[in-house]
Amino acid sequence: MGLKNDLLLRAANGQPTERTPVWLMRQAGRILPEYRAIRARLSGFKELVETPVLAAEVTLQPVDILDVDAAIIFSDILVVPEAMGLPYEMIEQKGPWFERTIKSASDVEQLKVSSPEEDLNYVLEAIRITKRELNNRVPLIGFAGAPWTIFCYMVEGQGSKTFSKARKMLVTEPELSHRLLEKITESTIKYLIAQISSGVDLVQIFDSWAGILGPKQYSEFGMKYVKLICDQIENVPVTVFSKGAYYARKELALLNCETIGMDWNMDISETRSIVGPNKTLQGNLDPCILYGDFASIKLETEEMLSRFKGGRHIANLGHGVYADIKPDKVKCFIDTVKEFN
Ligand code: CP3
Repeated sequence: MGLKNDLLLRAANGQPTERTPVWLMRQAGRILPEYRAIRARLSGFKELVETPVLAAEVTLQPVDILDVDAAIIFSDILVVPEAMGLPYEMIEQKGPWFERTIKSASDVEQLKVSSPEEDLNYVLEAIRITKRELNNRVPLIGFAGAPWTIFCYMVEGQGSKTFSKARKMLVTEPELSHRLLEKITESTIKYLIAQISSGVDLVQIFDSWAGILGPKQYSEFGMKYVKLICDQIENVPVTVFSKGAYYARKELALLNCETIGMDWNMDISETRSIVGPNKTLQGNLDPCILYGDFASIKLETEEMLSRFKGGRHIANLGHGVYADIKPDKVKCFIDTVKEFN
């Protein structure tokens, strides 16, 4: 393959590395003024996502400007519900909004299993352009939302702190919930395989709302489908980030994946002892640490790195970087990881 910097792939595969690789969830977009400049010329977020040359350009920005060890394709998890028949809008200062949501059996029947080549070709094209322009500098990460997290947006129609409409459906309509989760899973598997064929070197599954379910429900409605996805992905390492699902770490350890994402609520040595030595752990600095001064960012980052030392690790935050974090603070985090010995 000939990647010049393959630290991330080696760390994911459990091979020796000279130092810990580092990248940030949500590094593309959000924080860089260079991103906002491009974004300001457009009608909105969706136009950027759906214009492959521009999506590729903002994917490369953090590699060029922050010198991270990986690129993550600029897109969103919500492109999948749209490809299945539920279009989304991204409302300025508010977030995602769906005009139609899933309420009944006939709504689920009407959804299609999306075909990535037809419905999501703009993402595949952005991946091909990005790979060309990266010219093997660093690996490219592809991604999708986990079925449970996508289910949350399809049923709720917007963000929520509790997603109680989505959780209500699990209780009142368990069979319908499973039918919907199956359709999302099938679409997601095809989508990730198409991303791999288009050139991504690694994939991450974001289960951002795992933590709002209890252990029994997450096992039945969440993990079951994440496992189906992991079992169908071949040729590239897989990362599963089930945010908040500290109770599911034993089950996560059994997945057919190389890397497990950790948020900052999870204790590092406890997680290592639950998961065992044969998985890479990714994370887990509290994103709010990057609001602190340079000295404290350095201190906290070094403390995190020492706790992970001796085991397989990819440095990252415990969730996406916040939009108002200053790029020089992000750079301090990245440089601290690179200089750590
Ligand atoms: O990591 C990256 O930088 C790649 C791009 C990426 C975006 N969204 C771009 C984006 C990725 C990996 C995502 C994933 C995503 N999207 C998740 C899972 C990760 C997580 O943070 O938990 C979720 C839950 C979403 C849904 C979503 N998209 C929400 C709730 C919002 C609004 C709030 C916000 O700013 O995140 C988005 C919009 C969005 N997606 C933006 C970006 C850069 C900001 C939009 C803008 O430029 O106006």
